[in-house]
Amino acid sequence: MNDVLTLQLPPPPSQRRGYAVRVGAAVAAGVGASVREAAPRARAVGVVSDDNVWALHGQRVRAALEHAGLQVLPQVVTPGEASKSIEVVLGCVDGWATAGLGRHDAVVAFGGGVVGDLAGLAAHLYMRGVPWVGVPTSLLAQVDASVGGKVAIDRPAAKNLLGAFHFPHAVLVDPRWLATLPARELACGAAEMIKHALLFSRPQLDAIAAAATRGAEAAALAPLVGASIALKAACVAADPFETEPAGRVLLNLGHTVGHAIEQVSGFAVAHGEAVALGLVAAARVSRAQGLADAALERTVVDVLQRVGLPTAPDAWLQGEHADALAAAIAHDKKRGDGGTITYIALADVGEPRVCALTIDAIVAGAAATGRP
Ligand SMILES: NC(=O)c1ccc[n+]([C@@H]2O[C@H](COP(=O)([O-])OP(=O)(O)OC[C@H]3O[C@@H](n4cnc5c(N)ncnc54)[C@H](O)[C@@H]3O)[C@@H](O)[C@H]2O)c1
Repeated sequence: MNDVLTLQLPPPPSQRRGYAVRVGAAVAAGVGASVREAAPRARAVGVVSDDNVWALHGQRVRAALEHAGLQVLPQVVTPGEASKSIEVVLGCVDGWATAGLGRHDAVVAFGGGVVGDLAGLAAHLYMRGVPWVGVPTSLLAQVDASVGGKVAIDRPAAKNLLGAFHFPHAVLVDPRWLATLPARELACGAAEMIKHALLFSRPQLDAIAAAATRGAEAAALAPLVGASIALKAACVAADPFETEPAGRVLLNLGHTVGHAIEQVSGFAVAHGEAVALGLVAAARVSRAQGLADAALERTVVDVLQRVGLPTAPDAWLQGEHADALAAAIAHDKKRGDGGTITYIALADVGEPRVCALTIDAIVAGAAATGRP
């Protein structure tokens, strides 16, 4: 029997479902109705949150969900990256199973990017996928992590190693949650807002610079959250599964060097701070590659300083730090062919370029002298 039967299956319809991202000061009060709308058959919701967010805002969200007739099954995890673990995922799914959460019920991720990644992956795995709604409360989660459907947990070998695409059924963003966010976390989220603006929109960059004259303040940045989400959303909508050569990969701007600095510092430099240093590095590499002029670095440094982010990556680009940085970049998952790295540069604000660069070219370019 050498016959081979080939059946060509059409793409699953589930991958063609869109989702709404609602942004505004009335969103928190309408969380219950919005979850009902996003998951009309849900009777109960598994709400994943962390201790900080739940203590500050949990009762309000619980009341809004219960008011909409939804039974609330909270699972409150320890704040921090360590909760993006297989053990915590199993804790969620076992808890839902014990409480009787069904396949038409929904999961609500109420917290920062850690909670979103964790709850989204658990929702993806539970009963082969239940709907989930993102209610992001950190600036980073609002402008970045909650949009695009990437959900993941960490393993010892790498951050975000175990993950999936599981697009949310809705994302509910109320910038007023940001009022309780610590200043350092706010600045870290601002780094991603600045990244989106550098990639796609000079008017947004100018608006961030104008708003942030007193540093990263929630009240100043909140009105720009919706525009920042729209920039990321347009990018991921055009390339939902990161298969295009110049689609979602652009969102790695600042992350090649940034992620390496984060690792080499033993995570003493926070992710957003490291991204800020990576954005400065990207401006320098862009200039070293003959793509951009010195004005780009001045622009990048100016806006980062206004929100209180660091702008001097030099210490990480010299001596033994440079070797460790190169080794960390070598582990970069966006490794190209022939020993090169897929590196995102800028010809100018709003003009990203995808480059294939050697690690030496990246490190040397980022450390380039002759700066403005
Ligand atoms: N899925 C994606 O596309 C994507 C994109 C970027 C980042 N991420 C992931 O996001 C995670 C980082 O997200 P993060 O920076 O939000 O971290 P986080 O979830 O750890 O939140 C940061 C801190 O802020 C606290 N917090 C959150 N909202 C608050 C509020 N309103 N008031 C007071 N405190 C609040 C949290 O308790 C936590 O201590 C990383 O794991 C990263 O890998 C995912």
